[in-house]
Amino acid sequence: MDLDALERDLVGQVGQAGDEAALEAVRVAALGKKGSVSELLKTLGAMSPEERRERGPLINGLRDRVSGAIAAKREALAEAALEARLKAERVDVTLPLREAPQVRGRIHPISQVIDEITAIFADMGFSVAEGPDVETDELNFTALNFPEGHPAREMHDTFFLAPDHLGKRKVLRTHTSPVQIRTMRAQEPPLRVIIPGRTYRHDSDQTHTPMFHQVEGLVIDRSANIANLKWVLEEFCKAFFEVEGVTMRFRPSFFPFTEPSAEVDIQCSRKGGEIRFGEGTDWLEILGCGMVHPNVLRNCGLDPDQVQGFAFGMGIDRIAMLKYGMPDLRPFFEADVRWIEHYGFRPLDVPSLVGGLTA
Ligand code: PHE
Repeated sequence: MDLDALERDLVGQVGQAGDEAALEAVRVAALGKKGSVSELLKTLGAMSPEERRERGPLINGLRDRVSGAIAAKREALAEAALEARLKAERVDVTLPLREAPQVRGRIHPISQVIDEITAIFADMGFSVAEGPDVETDELNFTALNFPEGHPAREMHDTFFLAPDHLGKRKVLRTHTSPVQIRTMRAQEPPLRVIIPGRTYRHDSDQTHTPMFHQVEGLVIDRSANIANLKWVLEEFCKAFFEVEGVTMRFRPSFFPFTEPSAEVDIQCSRKGGEIRFGEGTDWLEILGCGMVHPNVLRNCGLDPDQVQGFAFGMGIDRIAMLKYGMPDLRPFFEADVRWIEHYGFRPLDVPSLVGGLTA
C-alpha cells in the first residue's frame, strides 16, 4: 500500500470538497468505520512488533494529517458560508425609518368632507343612496322635467358619450339629481336620502373643475315643506362649519325639477385670493334647492296630491374649500403629494358627531 499516494489522493479530495456535505463524505470514506485510513489502522493489530514499530508512526501520521486537513477545510467552509450570509443579509442602517401606513397616509379632503356630511345627515335620519356616473339622457334631464330642446340642457355644459346602436347618447351626469328619480322609482315614500357623488361639466377655473362633487338631498312624505328645507340646510351648515350661526342667503332661482326654486349663498371673504368662511362681504354659492316639481313626482309614479317634498344639490368641493381655507379647486385633482400632505387628514381621524367632526 502506497501511503504517500493515498495521502495525496485524500488531501486532494478534501481540497476539492465544495461544501460541508461533500467534506463529510470524504471524511467518512477515509476515517469512518470502513474508511480507507481506518482499514489501514486495523492492519496494525496483526503485525509483528518490529513491523508495527516501523508502520505504526507512518499510518498514524497519515491519519493525523488527513484529519487535520479536514478540520482546516471545515473551518474555511464555515467562514465562507458566514461571509456569503453577511453579504446577502446586509442591512443598511443609514436608511431613514419608514413610517407605518396609518401614520404616513392621508385621506383626501373630499373623502373626509363626504364622511362629515354623511355623519350630520345620518343624525337627522337620512340614509345614503348612489347612482352611476354615466347616466341616460332620460334620467339626467327628461325625467327631471327638462323639456326636449330646453336651454337648461345646454346650460349644464354636458359631456356627451358617443351614440349607441339606437342613436341614444349617454351623458356624464351633470348633477346628482338623476339619483332622485332612481330613488323615487325604487322606494316608497316617506323618503329621506342624501346622494353624494361625482358630477361632470365642461368648465374649468379657480372654483370649477370638469369633474366635481355634489351631495343631493331628497325628502318626500305627506307634508315636507319649505320651512323644513330651510331648517335642514341651516342645521347642516351649523353642524358642518361647527359654528353657532351661519349667514346664508336664499335667492329665488329656477330649476326645471323644483318649484319654487332657490339658490343658497354663504357669507365669505376672498381677500388676498384666500376664501375665508364667516367673515367678509362676499358670497359663495353652495347649493340649489326647492320643492320637488309635481311633474317629477308624476314621472316617478307618485301622486302630487298625496305626497310632496323638497330637494337640494350642494357642491361638496365648494364647502370643503370654505371650511378648510383652500383657495383653489384645481389642486384637489392634481394628485400632488405635497398638497395632500398639507391638506389631507389622518386615516384614524374619522368624523362623527359624538367624537367631533374635526378632531
Ligand atoms: N341639480 C341642481 C344643480 O346641479 C341643484 C339642485 C338639486 C337644485 C336639487 C334643486 C334641487 O345645479
